[in-house]
Amino acid sequence: MLRRRIFWIALGLLLFGILAAACAPPGGAKKEASGELNLLCTPQVEWCEGMKAEFEKKYPNITVNFVRMSSGESLTRLRNEKDNPQFDIWWGGPVDGQIAAKQEGLLEQYKTPAQDKIINKKLMLDPDGYWVGVYVGSLGFATNKDWSEANGGWVPKSWDDLLDPKLKGQLMVAHPSSSGTSYTALCTLLQIKGEEDGWKFLKEYAGQVNQFTKSGSAPARFVGAGEAAVGIVFSHDIVKQIEDGMPLILSFPEEGTGYEIGGMGIIKGAKNLENAKLWYDWALQPETQELGPKYGAYQAPTVEGAKASKPELLKVKLIDYDFEWCGQHKKEFVDRFTNEIAGAENLKK
Ligand code: G6P
Repeated sequence: MLRRRIFWIALGLLLFGILAAACAPPGGAKKEASGELNLLCTPQVEWCEGMKAEFEKKYPNITVNFVRMSSGESLTRLRNEKDNPQFDIWWGGPVDGQIAAKQEGLLEQYKTPAQDKIINKKLMLDPDGYWVGVYVGSLGFATNKDWSEANGGWVPKSWDDLLDPKLKGQLMVAHPSSSGTSYTALCTLLQIKGEEDGWKFLKEYAGQVNQFTKSGSAPARFVGAGEAAVGIVFSHDIVKQIEDGMPLILSFPEEGTGYEIGGMGIIKGAKNLENAKLWYDWALQPETQELGPKYGAYQAPTVEGAKASKPELLKVKLIDYDFEWCGQHKKEFVDRFTNEIAGAENLKK
């Protein structure tokens, strides 16, 4: 009797196993990715929109909701939402921001084979797996063409030129509390001049600024519109404005300029973690990194196999920018600038 009962149970289990295998998706494919992805996007909104569209083309069952927010604002937002994160992934903005976010426990650790293609792992990949670089861009000066012609063709060719009396009230740059572009300039100056002389220089340079802006790329537009003579902006943003017809001249400080590695990191506690990992892996594909120019973004790529659209923008003298040092001191340096040099109220939008 017992033997007969065991036989029928075994037969039932066998039949169930065959039925389950028959219903499994073909080739054992994973369940189709679906749902939402909440993206904190720092580069230009045009590029954010393009990346959303391209990702949704690849993953039609995922809806990307993004907010375009400058780097400093993004870090503040992530701090405020630490216990209830609204975003799943932060894409873009100088990696000083992601390094600071890692330090404050705001990012998720994620190591993926997709990072194997990174061209310079020492510079562009967090060994602990909390952030990775997704683009590269150099800082430049944008000078209004008409103003330059009225001043004998003069354009700034060094950081010290920014203190020239002819630029009093004629310099435009974002505020480092909101803008990663501006923080890159601040930390570049501290590295070029040393901390003591650097802070003295920053105090004088702030005295030349007619009004700090919220976003890093905005000075290129305002200088192009004739509201100031010179702006400090990433060179690829200046080139984009020139291509859009703005009367700007791009120049670089001959003693060396700073540069950004655009960073990416998954937010700690992300509600759509699997979709965030899909974006992270996708953003590290060469074909993804070559999409930039389609959306007016000329940053250089960080992975093998991707071709830079404007390599000349990195063929200038770059300082040996210490991303870890700048990232780890970001809160301290931004607070010092805001409290001792220039407040962040009334930023020009
Ligand atoms: C622009 C640049 C990006 C840069 C970003 C930083 O969008 O094209 O390369 O990462 O500014 O923005 P922020 O407003 O923080 O300076």
